[in-house]
Amino acid sequence: MSDAASPDITPAAAGAPATATAGGATQETTTVVEFTQVGKTYDTGYTAIKDVTFRVDDVPGHMEIVGILGPSGCGKSTVLRLIAGLTPQHPATTGIVKVMGKPVEAPGADRGFVFQDYTSFDHRTVEQNIAFGLECRGTPANERLELARDWIQKVGLDVKRDADKYPHELSGGMRQRVALARTLVLKPRVILMDEPFGALDPKTRYAMQDQLVALSREVQATVFLVTHSIEEAVYVGDRLFVFSNAPGTILQEMSIPAPDRPARVMQREPDFLDIVFSVRDLVEGLEMSDRAGT
Ligand SMILES: Nc1ncnc2c1ncn2[C@@H]1O[C@H](COP(=O)(O)OP(=O)(O)OP(=O)(O)O)[C@@H](O)[C@H]1O
Ligand SMILES: [Mg+2]
Repeated sequence: MSDAASPDITPAAAGAPATATAGGATQETTTVVEFTQVGKTYDTGYTAIKDVTFRVDDVPGHMEIVGILGPSGCGKSTVLRLIAGLTPQHPATTGIVKVMGKPVEAPGADRGFVFQDYTSFDHRTVEQNIAFGLECRGTPANERLELARDWIQKVGLDVKRDADKYPHELSGGMRQRVALARTLVLKPRVILMDEPFGALDPKTRYAMQDQLVALSREVQATVFLVTHSIEEAVYVGDRLFVFSNAPGTILQEMSIPAPDRPARVMQREPDFLDIVFSVRDLVEGLEMSDRAGT
């Protein structure tokens, strides 16, 4: 986080250069997700998003977390589901959605989705839920058990206490940890998260934000996080997309300093709050000018 008195947020143009400086050397980067003038009109005739254009590059050693903010119904989930290749959002009505340089045709193992409602199988234990994706991939039983136990610990659960529990025996926070582990164990390149922490109490939410930042760095994944919390987006995000009212389009894209201290600590600091207030002013200003049609 910057020590500067003024908040360190930088408006960033959609489509930054495809090179990055790492350790003084310029390296080629890969484009992880790219939207080019993407629009979606549902069968009902309702246009949810229009002209959505952005590019998120894979900068070696520094995967980005992109926070997506915008009013209810502006098309945030539509955008995530288009990246995932999930119907009926996929296919887009206009424009091109690319992941790792190729147009999205269907869901794939390179993308993992963490839904708001925790989506675990009720009849499977924690361990079996986390191992499910590996089972689908044909990973041998002993290997997937080892990986599942590893990830139970990484998301802050306890193997002895929790591995054999069923989802109905878990709290909301624990179920959200299982959902995160189920996705991360597969090491996707892109993690799509739709309001994943909305139902958690503040303490658990901070813990999950910290875990998300640490684990997404560990698995080297690019994360798209939809949230209604500006604090959460500013804390976990390296970049923010602020969407307009429906039909949603990106009104502002900005770069934010990466978190370097625990959420519980950093989110109380004046520097952090300055950035939150600036983003809030910006969002409110954009929403007002958007409503006024300017
Ligand atoms: N399958 C569908 N068929 C028709 N309309 C849809 C469909 N899915 C979404 N919509 C509409 O598209 C718009 C955008 O929906 P979306 O779920 O992407 O919004 P959102 O930004 O995620 O909202 P929220 O913050 O409330 O979750 C909404 O008006 C919604 O009613
Ligand atoms: Mg949504």
